[in-house]
Amino acid sequence: MKIDAQVFESLVEEFQQRVDKALDHWLPQADVYPLRLHQAMRYAVLAPGKRVRPVLVYATASALGIDLERVDGAAAAVEIIHAYSLIHDDLPAMDDDDLRRGRPTCHREFDEATAILAGDALQALAFYIISHDPQMTDDAAARLQMIDKLALFSGSRGMAGGQAIDLAAVGKTLNIAELETMHIHKTGALIRTCIQLVALSTSNLTRQQFKALDSYAKHIGLSFQVQDDILDVTGDTATLGKTQGSDSARNKPTFPAIIGLEASHEKAQELHQNALQALTIFGEEVDILRYISAWFVERKN
Ligand code: IPE
Ligand code: IPE
Ligand code: MG
Ligand code: MG
Ligand code: MG
Repeated sequence: MKIDAQVFESLVEEFQQRVDKALDHWLPQADVYPLRLHQAMRYAVLAPGKRVRPVLVYATASALGIDLERVDGAAAAVEIIHAYSLIHDDLPAMDDDDLRRGRPTCHREFDEATAILAGDALQALAFYIISHDPQMTDDAAARLQMIDKLALFSGSRGMAGGQAIDLAAVGKTLNIAELETMHIHKTGALIRTCIQLVALSTSNLTRQQFKALDSYAKHIGLSFQVQDDILDVTGDTATLGKTQGSDSARNKPTFPAIIGLEASHEKAQELHQNALQALTIFGEEVDILRYISAWFVERKN
């Protein structure tokens, strides 16, 4: 399919709606015991986020000619891990934020204990999906590898590790390499997982193609967090759906804080160009991924 800005926008919408259905399917209903926990899980996951990770999963699958049914489970699982990470990220012990996706944060709407448990339960649910969804793959070894990747990239050597680096760095000055390491872990790792899970759902990808896609994912994973840091400075609370200025109020190590705003914009653009560069072995079939990279650095929320 030939992609232009309008087609891209409608595909993003289609993918967002598609994952919302999958999420609704996998999340326990709000009237299922224990009610409050299930309500909190649904509240956090189904809130209006951008669903960029599922969009990336579906976009990669469609670029590679993989049936979308095969990656519904991957799309839901990465979004659920992401939602859990946001619930915990907002807790008083971490970023202590009150607003998320335009609504009170989970611990504000419910209570801290429920928010912690909702995060715990969501993390487990993501792995349950990968191990149970019959449509993902017929290959038991590939399914095991999907579980392996999600565990590795969301755990202490991935997202959770990045969050630990983030917390340890509050009030300290990091150099650029340290800042990048933090961002690559806390945000880049899960974005990389999106591509890894899609790659594991097909046997038609060459080693060279996989490497190119992984390199693309590394660059957009970092650019996404650089832009997140920028928006904390330049955005507004209503558009962001989260409190503008939260990072500087808490003395968080961010790209604008360490290299300034202009250099941060340049960094994001450079990463975008590197991401495009990584895709040069492909033709226009991966144009949708090129649009995603642009979206990551041009977005306003
Ligand atoms: C916010 O992620 C946290 C980061 C990793 C930067 P998103 O910007 O994807 O948040 P939602 O899902 O759209 O709310
Ligand atoms: C969060 O980074 C990364 C996660 C793993 C959740 P931030 O703390 O910058 O995310 P926001 O700005 O609160 O969404
Ligand atoms: Mg944080
Ligand atoms: Mg935060
Ligand atoms: Mg942020």
